Amino acid sequence: MLYIELKNHKIPALGYGTWQLRDKACEAGIAKALEVGYRHIDTAQIYENEEEVGNALQSSGVNREEIFLTTKVWMSSVREGALQKSVEESLKKLKTDYVDLLLIHWPVKEVSFAEQMKALDSVRLDGRAKLIGVSNYTVAQMKEVVEDIGTPIATNQVEYHPFLSQAPVLEFVRSHDMFLTAYSPLARGKIRDEEALKTIAHKHGKSVSQIALRWLVQQDRVAAIPKAAGEDHIRENFDIFNFELDADDMNKIHALGHEGGRLINPEWAPHWDKTQAA
Ligand SMILES: NC(=O)c1ccc[n+]([C@@H]2O[C@H](COP(=O)([O-])OP(=O)(O)OC[C@H]3O[C@@H](n4cnc5c(N)ncnc54)[C@H](OP(=O)(O)O)[C@@H]3O)[C@@H](O)[C@H]2O)c1
Repeated sequence: MLYIELKNHKIPALGYGTWQLRDKACEAGIAKALEVGYRHIDTAQIYENEEEVGNALQSSGVNREEIFLTTKVWMSSVREGALQKSVEESLKKLKTDYVDLLLIHWPVKEVSFAEQMKALDSVRLDGRAKLIGVSNYTVAQMKEVVEDIGTPIATNQVEYHPFLSQAPVLEFVRSHDMFLTAYSPLARGKIRDEEALKTIAHKHGKSVSQIALRWLVQQDRVAAIPKAAGEDHIRENFDIFNFELDADDMNKIHALGHEGGRLINPEWAPHWDKTQAA
């Protein structure tokens, strides 16, 4: 495992994503992931699986302190009071008295960032979140939160994979003692047919998914949280710590980023930063 070290925390650079994992499949996926060695789990209140995540963590026998657990507050709960209530519900379902990282899931324009950040930071201050952060924020929005409001956010969780550069976000997080959490790191399965990745995969005797994940976690201050339902993918995605991509491999993968590479773009998304190849 590679780790990101910041703000006195050690964050496993590879985590396990749980969006669209429900019921028994969610419990089974997390149980398998923990058995294989994952110690970083990503959920959200809107995924409606916190209860199952909590069940799986509880029955795993793995000590709570060994796990880096993230949840997110949905857009309807970002006001003072509502945010704290959302966290209370999440913790109850997760069967724990704290999360390692609490994120605001998407930027909400209708409520001032000052109010949202005050509520978010209150959860850190009362110990129910060790770290706080945001998701799907632009550089301008991070700047407002960090530089104008002064909230100590640790990460921005954004879509990041070989087809989508996140150069401006990376530059910001690296210069503000933060890290980037890469969601949809396998481009939701779309990377599998990319010829350049296949060539690099062949060279290292690895799969295309392993190459994409290695490319992410090998970058300074980048964590990746692939979702995988079955044991084969869970194991395959974890098996990326016994080889290294060289500078030429890294550059070739960076060059695959393009403006049309974004997959997650709902109507409530912000006006995204222009992405240039890193
Ligand atoms: N903050 C946000 O707004 C946000 C948005 C999207 C996602 N996320 C987080 O990021 C996590 C990951 O993103 P994602 O679920 O969108 O997409 P992803 O991890 O890029 O891709 C998941 C897809 O890839 C397949 N897959 C996994 N491992 C594979 C392998 N080794 N070979 C071939 N296919 C493989 C999975 O199939 P199987 O399941 O069949 O293995 C699934 O169809 C989410 O679960 C969630 O925790 C956050």
